[in-house]
Amino acid sequence: MNLKIKKILKKKNKTKIICLTSYSKNISEILDRYTDIILVGDSLGSVLYSFDTTKKVNLNMIIEHSKSARLGIKKSLMVVDMPFNTYRNKNEALKNAKKIIKYTKADAVKLEGGKRIIDIIKYLRKNKINVMGHLGILPQSHKGKFRYKGKTSKERKNLLEDALLLQKNGVFSIVLECIETSLAKEITKALKIPTIGIGSSVNCDGQVLVTDDLIGLNLTSIKFVKSFYDIRKHIGLAARKFKDEVKKRKYPSTKFSY
Ligand code: KIV
Repeated sequence: MNLKIKKILKKKNKTKIICLTSYSKNISEILDRYTDIILVGDSLGSVLYSFDTTKKVNLNMIIEHSKSARLGIKKSLMVVDMPFNTYRNKNEALKNAKKIIKYTKADAVKLEGGKRIIDIIKYLRKNKINVMGHLGILPQSHKGKFRYKGKTSKERKNLLEDALLLQKNGVFSIVLECIETSLAKEITKALKIPTIGIGSSVNCDGQVLVTDDLIGLNLTSIKFVKSFYDIRKHIGLAARKFKDEVKKRKYPSTKFSY
């Protein structure tokens, strides 16, 4: 088994697992000291390209951003999202997962869904591809108004069954997105593998956030997003100082000139 995955599995019930997204080298380089997992998520579609859906992210985009992100990762486990329509059947999934791993040296891929994609996950595992699951809100298939998952008893039963099925078929961890607090706790307790929550309460084994949200670069009003810093303010300050010095002919001084 991949040693980094082994390390992550050992953290269950001992210490929280830290996961953040990165789409580029410099961000990975900064995060890598603090993270266990760096995810090149298809959230890059909305965050970087203002797409209205992650469905518009294609394989080439995720590979190019992952190649850049890879350059800054030394110790964290690198997981790459398989974009929409790249795993419609098992052969397509294997071909594309292999391509992602070949070009990005990712440790694992992440796929959205439970029972619906279980044969695909089985096939990837049979071919030694490390897989992270993703349950709850599934941005690649989500339709209509946003609503957290686990409201009805049927939905709760299905989600717990899906989580157990994913575990049985070899995923090493599952992202739980926007799952009701007590259900996230129940799923986390029922599994031997770690759950990584986003909008799914403190009860998960780890937490993931989109880094652009974390640092206040991406402006969003989503309930579960806490912005831990105001990087916009600092970028603005640097740009203002640059502007002032250029206007006053202070920059570039002789020190910065040939
Ligand atoms: O695409 C992404 O960044 C994700 C995380 C939000 C879990 O899937």
